[in-house]
Amino acid sequence: MRKNIVAGNWKMNTTLPEGVQLAKEVNAAVAATKDLKCEVIIGVPLTHLTAVKEVIDINKVGLAAENCANHASGAYTGEVSAAMVASTGANYVILGHSERREYYNETAEMLKEKVDLALENGLKVIFCCGESLEQRENGSFKEVIKAEINDSIFHLTPEQWKNIVIAYEPIWAIGTGKTATSDQAEEIHAFIRGLVAEKYGAQVADDTTILYGGSCKPSNAPELFAKPDIDGGLIGGASLKADSFMGIVTAF
Ligand code: PGA
Repeated sequence: MRKNIVAGNWKMNTTLPEGVQLAKEVNAAVAATKDLKCEVIIGVPLTHLTAVKEVIDINKVGLAAENCANHASGAYTGEVSAAMVASTGANYVILGHSERREYYNETAEMLKEKVDLALENGLKVIFCCGESLEQRENGSFKEVIKAEINDSIFHLTPEQWKNIVIAYEPIWAIGTGKTATSDQAEEIHAFIRGLVAEKYGAQVADDTTILYGGSCKPSNAPELFAKPDIDGGLIGGASLKADSFMGIVTAF
């Protein structure tokens, strides 16, 4: 059976004290929630990983980095490797986010290298994909999503695949307040699950967690999460306050 997951993606927000405070609040709220129906993860800036790890119960709140390098180690000034991320006690890394693809020119090949290094170092990967508004409007969106998945994660073995979570994030819905309708999201989630089934078989596809991301909030999460192929969310803006994040966590 696949897991439901609600993961926060703080992006480049919070100073270290603010981030530690937010993590404490989320951890306390999760601990106080009975009958939790999903796994909870917080994705935090690299500078915060070690301190946040100290204030959460990692068995109840997963910890994700928002990036890692596409090289194992060496002369890459300013970069942080997957091994370094793993050594903080973090258990996830978010890769392939459209902001990284767009603003930092991350290519499919680089993402493939990052995915491989993350898995080699024992991190699970939340792999993001999704189309731009232009691609949605010109009808190429399914091809775009298929290529993003094919070119960066379909080289993995079925055993490695167990450590992959997919996040579908239409770029036109990220931080814009414009959510994909639950039907639009479900259509793509079912499409992605179909691709996984073709590649790895129906059972693996059925076990794969596919998250929706893009202006997800407490008010629209219940309708999105009610869809058969939407297994939770990757949450940006609404993850920056413990109460709105928890409003989504408890939406199942
Ligand atoms: P948003 O961001 O919830 O602020 O739209 C989602 C994401 O980019 O992961």
